[in-house]
Amino acid sequence: MKPKNKYPTRASLLLGFLKGSKLIFFISICFAAAVAALDLFMPKIIAFTVDSILLGSSYDSPAILDKLIAFAGGIAYIKEHIYLIAILICAVALLRMLASYLFKFLNSVSEERLVCRARDTLYAHIIRLPMSWHNLNRTGDIIQRCTSDLDTLRNFLAEQVTNLVRTVILIVLAIIFMLRVNVTLTLVALALLPIIVGYSLYFHVKIGASFEHVDEMEGRLSAMVQENLTGVRVVRAFGREAYEREHFCNYNEKYMNTWIGLMKLLSSFWATGDFVGGFQALLIVAIGAVLCVKGSLSAGEYIEFISYNAMLTWPVRALGRVVADMSKAGISIDRIMYIMNSPEESDAEDALTPAMNKDIVFEHVSFKYEESDVISDVSFTIKAGETVGILGGTGSGKSTLMHLLDRLYEPDEGGGRITIGGIDIRNIDRAWLRKNIGIVLQEPYLFSGTIAENIAITRDEVNMDEVRAAAKIAALDETVSKFNKGYETYVGERGVTLSGGQKQRTAIAQMIMKDAPIMIFDDSLSAVDSQTDAMIRSELASLSSETTKIIISHRISTLIHADRVYVMDHGKLVQQGTHDELSVSDGLYRKIYELQQ
Ligand SMILES: Nc1ncnc2c1ncn2[C@@H]1O[C@H](COP(=O)(O)OP(=O)(O)OP(=O)(O)O)[C@@H](O)[C@H]1O
Ligand SMILES: [Mg+2]
Repeated sequence: MKPKNKYPTRASLLLGFLKGSKLIFFISICFAAAVAALDLFMPKIIAFTVDSILLGSSYDSPAILDKLIAFAGGIAYIKEHIYLIAILICAVALLRMLASYLFKFLNSVSEERLVCRARDTLYAHIIRLPMSWHNLNRTGDIIQRCTSDLDTLRNFLAEQVTNLVRTVILIVLAIIFMLRVNVTLTLVALALLPIIVGYSLYFHVKIGASFEHVDEMEGRLSAMVQENLTGVRVVRAFGREAYEREHFCNYNEKYMNTWIGLMKLLSSFWATGDFVGGFQALLIVAIGAVLCVKGSLSAGEYIEFISYNAMLTWPVRALGRVVADMSKAGISIDRIMYIMNSPEESDAEDALTPAMNKDIVFEHVSFKYEESDVISDVSFTIKAGETVGILGGTGSGKSTLMHLLDRLYEPDEGGGRITIGGIDIRNIDRAWLRKNIGIVLQEPYLFSGTIAENIAITRDEVNMDEVRAAAKIAALDETVSKFNKGYETYVGERGVTLSGGQKQRTAIAQMIMKDAPIMIFDDSLSAVDSQTDAMIRSELASLSSETTKIIISHRISTLIHADRVYVMDHGKLVQQGTHDELSVSDGLYRKIYELQQ
């Protein structure tokens, strides 16, 4: 059964991200409404001035304006002191400025908080997603979703949602105000609204797929750059610069053309919108003038109405753009939702944290990454405190066995089980399991930082004595002492400034620092010479006798002293025994042994 999505709708995701800044967001929207109301109040003052003060006729002003007039001393007094109108206009403008400032400021605060929260949530989620998810999704694409898609989401809230709310408030208030001025003219003004809004809605649907397409293209483009930068040494070494450049340029051009096509559509949308808007304004000016001449509209009301119409035209047309932009935001939200709805690795509430210095048992374990079996029906036991070796050709499934033990991947239902001290590892808390299994990966990965920082990566603080002790066991201390800056030597991104063997030994030291009861060395001595290999092995042998050590290697000399050696071939366990037993019995082990001699 497919697990239920954590965020079933776009709104649920946004509300989740908005946690903690909802109130500020709401207050900012209230100030947006205040700005709209003050905007609509201004034409009232103008209309009153024209009709009551300049032309001396009556003007049907709203209650609040009546109160203000009475407060200022009545119409007659204002006529004598016309500057009072100027003061009122200034006061309204100042109030609007304040409301506008508070709206923008609070809106930015809530939106920045949202983006910050979204970034945190996304990052925390991504690093908890299973390996199989990371294998399927390209890093560059994930980064694009966390940066540019998140930016689109920010714009969506900062501009589109607020604009939408503002526009709706403005339209509703304006229509009420307009109806009070003149019903016929209002009907004319509103007649074209459904056309403008309907057209933008139609457009919104039409353009959605194109936006998804360009977003995907952008994701692929950044994935391409990311992969090429990470593999820059391979690109150089194989002289593939020209090929990669051409490949990138071709794709970039395709991306550009898609955008141009999209912009063509957008431009035609905006241009036709301009035309309809202009036509509507023309109608109001003309019909309003006729009504004025007939006497059913006063000069003040005519000016007031045209002001309202002008105020309405732009937001309604912007509504089209907002809706169009929303389609883009919708795609970005979906792309973020895809990440957020991918299930994290999680443990049951009652996950166990047992002692781990116990026997490890593989029971009929089978596993496949995709279609074909990589591990088929493998059963064996590693006794606590033993040192075992695993030998086998490349691709025989050695690393996979260890990934299964570390629960980086898990066998499917019916794919057997792995137990430690009799407990199925599926019932053991993942973090606990991984804390107790130290693994030196076949391809060690160092972070940019100093050697000391890298060795002590599992610790909160760098203790130089411990770092040096671990480095000694990994036969690294002598080498590092020869570096100008010693343990403070900077290793560069992914440890590029170190040799393969130095990197491997740093990774071993890193694992020794972890001091775990189960230690796995996945082909970790392949890049060191036989002498160093022997040195490290004898140091390892002197570690606590309770530590279980699993050493994967292609080199028989590395495994010669192991308590037992398991031989893998094409995902099957084909032989097991000590070196002395295996070297005399027919089989893969003896063949490899003879070859290596
Ligand atoms: N993440 C993955 N997705 C799909 N297939 C994979 C993945 N990792 C490994 N495989 C496949 O699984 C098989 C076993 O790989 P594994 O890394 O376990 O071999 P190995 O015995 O460690 O080899 P080597 O000695 O070269 O390290 C290989 O055929 C490989 O192609
Ligand atoms: Mg391997």
